[in-house]
Amino acid sequence: MSSNFSVTPWEVKGKVDYDKLIVQFGTQKITPELKERIKKITGDLHVMLRRDVFFSHRDLDLVLKDYEEGKGFFLYTGRAPSLGMHIGHLIPFIFTKWLQEKFKVNLYIEITDDEKFMRNPELTLEQTRQFAYDNILDIIAVGFDPDRTFIFQDTEYIRNMYPLATKIAKKLTFSEVKATFGLENSSNIGIIFYPALQIAPTMFEKKRCLIPAGIDQDPYWRLQRDIAESLGYYKAAQIHSKFLPPLTGPEGKMSSSIPESAIYLTDDPKTVERKIMKYAFSGGQPTVELHRKYGGNPEIDVSFQWLYMFFEEDDNKIKKIEEDYRSGKMLTGELKQILIDKLNKFLEEHRAKREEAKELVNTFKYEGKLAKEMWNKIHE
Ligand code: TYM
Repeated sequence: MSSNFSVTPWEVKGKVDYDKLIVQFGTQKITPELKERIKKITGDLHVMLRRDVFFSHRDLDLVLKDYEEGKGFFLYTGRAPSLGMHIGHLIPFIFTKWLQEKFKVNLYIEITDDEKFMRNPELTLEQTRQFAYDNILDIIAVGFDPDRTFIFQDTEYIRNMYPLATKIAKKLTFSEVKATFGLENSSNIGIIFYPALQIAPTMFEKKRCLIPAGIDQDPYWRLQRDIAESLGYYKAAQIHSKFLPPLTGPEGKMSSSIPESAIYLTDDPKTVERKIMKYAFSGGQPTVELHRKYGGNPEIDVSFQWLYMFFEEDDNKIKKIEEDYRSGKMLTGELKQILIDKLNKFLEEHRAKREEAKELVNTFKYEGKLAKEMWNKIHE
């Protein structure tokens, strides 16, 4: 396998070798022992843990220890809002919801309308704030506990974060931030300061913070871990996910900016069908005869990977699909149809929950129990 890949918070290139990435980033693999330990507490294992979609961590063992000893922990994740979320963006949120449900802990969700604005010359702040509202609906639709979840948008909640952010900023040098994020002297100064704002929520409570996110966000947490203890906080723990591959093939990650690579949460059933049939990269053979003879390759087949990582939770069913596809009994068209049906069912339910979410925005941003606690902190 080629080792020609790179992962940064803005871009994923090539076919990612996740074992190599663990070495490169200096994280830990989630071992079967660690999964057993989680299962002892949670009763079952989420499909994304069973199938190693969440594959890497830092200090997850210490988080479990704190939980077992009654010290507790809290969750933190986030999103840089864009015009329409795609299904890959839901991976960390769906898994975070499961963690919150099982451990009954507080969750902070940062919406970085500032980051999106400052990184994209073509966007206005009004646009990214509108995206924020829209993306928050998709996030609420995932179904978080309203009493234990606080969703905040940087340009609105800056007052709460700023004291912490200044302490963090003072500990970070330009050269560190420049090297970590590949900034240039011509980068705008907002982007240079921004990491302090992504790090601040890791210090919202004096407990250990666990961050479920794609592994592309890791550079922020490396900086956090260098400075947290000197400020009297824990080093943040993380649980990292792999990327849902783009429709177009197993390389890179699904990206909002390449429409044929993604299924958006707003895509209607016809669009989903057309995109999957037209673009979903196939591990099948070029003709039916050859396919029956040699079978398909699920490792590179995007429809199979999506079913495996996300849409077919039943272990027996996914095993049967894999066997039938590999043996040539199942054709690419049949595999794609299974995915189309699953996707459309998922999106239909998501859209209904998204409608209901419109009534819940105030709860999550201002009126829920945790939201009020944070609001009071701002005005203390
Ligand atoms: P953003 O908006 O780029 O991504 C939001 C979350 O989605 C993950 N992600 C994916 N996961 C699986 N498959 C994909 N194809 C895929 N594409 C994106 C990302 O890893 C991320 O977890 N700077 C952040 C916003 C942020 C944040 C945070 C994220 C602020 N605080 C704390 C995570 C945790 C950003 O640009 O995310």
